[in-house]
Amino acid sequence: MGKQIIVISSWKTSLHNLAYIIIRNGWHEVPAIQKVIAGAGDKPMVAVKYKGLLKQLAPEEVSSMVLAKMREVAEVFLGTNIKNAVVTVPAYFNNSQRQATKDAGTIAGLNVMRIINEPTAAAIAYGFLRKESIVGAKNVLAFDLGGGTFDISLLTIEEGYIEVKATSGITHLGGEDFDNRMVDHFVKEFKWKHRKDISGDPRALRRLKTACEKTKRRLSTTEETDISINCLFEGWPCQIDYDKKKSKKNSNRIFNIFLQN
Ligand SMILES: Nc1ncnc2c1ncn2[C@@H]1O[C@H](COP(=O)(O)OP(=O)(O)OP(=O)(O)O)[C@@H](O)[C@H]1O
Ligand SMILES: [Mg+2]
Repeated sequence: MGKQIIVISSWKTSLHNLAYIIIRNGWHEVPAIQKVIAGAGDKPMVAVKYKGLLKQLAPEEVSSMVLAKMREVAEVFLGTNIKNAVVTVPAYFNNSQRQATKDAGTIAGLNVMRIINEPTAAAIAYGFLRKESIVGAKNVLAFDLGGGTFDISLLTIEEGYIEVKATSGITHLGGEDFDNRMVDHFVKEFKWKHRKDISGDPRALRRLKTACEKTKRRLSTTEETDISINCLFEGWPCQIDYDKKKSKKNSNRIFNIFLQN
């Protein structure tokens, strides 16, 4: 049961990302997520409404759309066609989830050479496989706070091999929770500044959330910054200062969740 929930929440996140990609591509209609339902053989299917029609998408179909987009981004960046890919998955993925990911790559027209664990990929990227950085066996803790999930893995690296020893985490905690806290903060500030409540306007909230995410990233390299949005609500702009102190205060409850776990 626990694993089933992980699958569903993870694919739902993919669908949200997919909707985001479609918005960025300028499509006019975005698939509205209806719900996750049980398909043939109890396989989870994502029910979406697109251009007025109800459609059921298999998780690997949703995932293949995301992979196809990633391929496109990589091709533009590298200026060459891409056929072969190594795809990473969370370390806790079981065999059928790995196979589904491989199928998604095939649907996207990729030759999936290997599926590797995300913490393993991180360890390779940080150079832990380089001979000179390893003396004997080494234990590495990979802390992966993504957009919507938090994964922590313990790896052992020895003689060119990386083994995942243990995994844990929270499947519904990620960067987006920090963004949501910021949105709450700016809704209050906007109300105080302009005597206007934007909390009932989904479009204004969406624009505010996008701006919050950018501001959050800027705060990784600066002590203070601001949020600046033209005509956020009823013609009023949102121009409000923000700094690390405020960010820490807003995120305190999230940090406590990490400490408690
Ligand atoms: N410089 C930065 N400072 C703070 N947060 C950042 C920075 N760059 C990216 N993020 C945040 O990291 C998150 C995305 O991380 P990542 O790319 O690892 O997610 P993901 O793997 O797509 O998500 P998940 O693993 O949950 O499916 C977003 O919430 C983004 O706002
Ligand atoms: Mg991730």
